Amino acid sequence: MQKSNSPLAKILAEVVFWVTIIFLSLFPYPQGALAEEEDLAKGKALYEKHCAVCHGPEGKGDGYTLLDPPPADLTSEVIQKKSYDELWHEVHDGIPDTAMGMWKVALSDAEITMVLAYVRTLAQ
Ligand code: HEC
Repeated sequence: MQKSNSPLAKILAEVVFWVTIIFLSLFPYPQGALAEEEDLAKGKALYEKHCAVCHGPEGKGDGYTLLDPPPADLTSEVIQKKSYDELWHEVHDGIPDTAMGMWKVALSDAEITMVLAYVRTLAQ
């Protein structure tokens, strides 16, 4: 291949180079977003496996409704307004005298976090 020595081609190459650099720095590869999506998918799978029986496929508390008290409606404003910490402890340690068990026996801390990330999406 013949190398061009024209000053214009050099400037053009320079411009293309910098435009690429600027473009890449403005739109970085969304690694964070990808990891988040993966966690959400895992959270959804965990939810469907462990929580949907009682809380219903969409979290509306319409799963196993014969319980007393009945499963909470996870889409409700009351619950969606609770802090992440509060929900995390409710799931981790369970709610005494209800069918809501302590999930620490079945789920790792990371899995509880993933399942809650999914629960957060149920309000929409
Ligand atoms: C065996 C049935 C059952 C299963 C399975 C279950 N729950 Fe529950 N859950 C309940 C019941 C019943 C309540 C309501 C307790 C109450 O009224 O205080 C509850 C309450 C909750 C609350 C608290 C709502 C509040 O009032 O703040 C959260 C959060 C929750 N469940 C999340 C989950 C998640 C996440 C899973 C899956 C890992 C899960 N639950 C699995 C029965 C269940």
